Amino acid sequence: MSLQFVVADSEAWAAAAVARIERVLTAQPAACVGFPTGRTPQPLYGELRRRAGAARRKYSELRAVMLDEYLDAEARFQSWTWLKMEVFDPLRIDGRRIRRMPQRSAGIGAACGQFERALQESGGCDLQLLGLGANGHIGFNEPGSAAGTRTRAVTLTEATAGANAAYWQGAFTPRRAATMGIATILQAREIGLLVRGVAKAGILRRALSGEISAECPASFLRTASAPVWVLADREAACRLDPKVLGTLGYNVPWP
Ligand code: PGA
Repeated sequence: MSLQFVVADSEAWAAAAVARIERVLTAQPAACVGFPTGRTPQPLYGELRRRAGAARRKYSELRAVMLDEYLDAEARFQSWTWLKMEVFDPLRIDGRRIRRMPQRSAGIGAACGQFERALQESGGCDLQLLGLGANGHIGFNEPGSAAGTRTRAVTLTEATAGANAAYWQGAFTPRRAATMGIATILQAREIGLLVRGVAKAGILRRALSGEISAECPASFLRTASAPVWVLADREAACRLDPKVLGTLGYNVPWP
């Protein structure tokens, strides 16, 4: 296991995340980066937009891949629309460089298989960014998702549907989604777990030091052969003990 744990102050969190992305892009400008949606990555995407807008950095060569998507959602509620607005358009990433997650339940099994094959054939993901669900999900791999799962259609738990409905002020409650599987995620050459806020402190502790099991899908990150970094702000890290993480074998450059 190569797992690095990094804690940043809230104001420094986005810059720390961008630094990790830029390290990958400097080595490989056309690297494939997996993008999550949600509240957590918003400051990161804001910082990427700021840098792209100030022409301090060109991101248009990177290749993007989506982590998950709601099924049969109106365009305005799709992850695709959200990512296009937050990241892809401002960073001038051409649509042909973006691997979209299937959006319709009709033919979803075949579409997910095709997504998975095309991702592998294109060389896979160089850096997969992830948020952490309040129930320990990564992507939409809800509790119960096995380590060997691949890209597929899933039904969201009540809790996840509720958390997402709150994001849309109740105008949209997703029930079904397509997501990369746990095995798909773990195949990336580098994985970054993004965590912010005290509401995630308990589940982060469980993911990093609890039992490795499908009941907390994020715990499977500890089985990855690729390097994994966890970037948490102080609020999210408040229930972690650096000594405990150290004894579990994490590299902890705790400031
Ligand atoms: P959030 O969601 O960033 O909106 O908290 C994370 C997730 O559910 O993966």
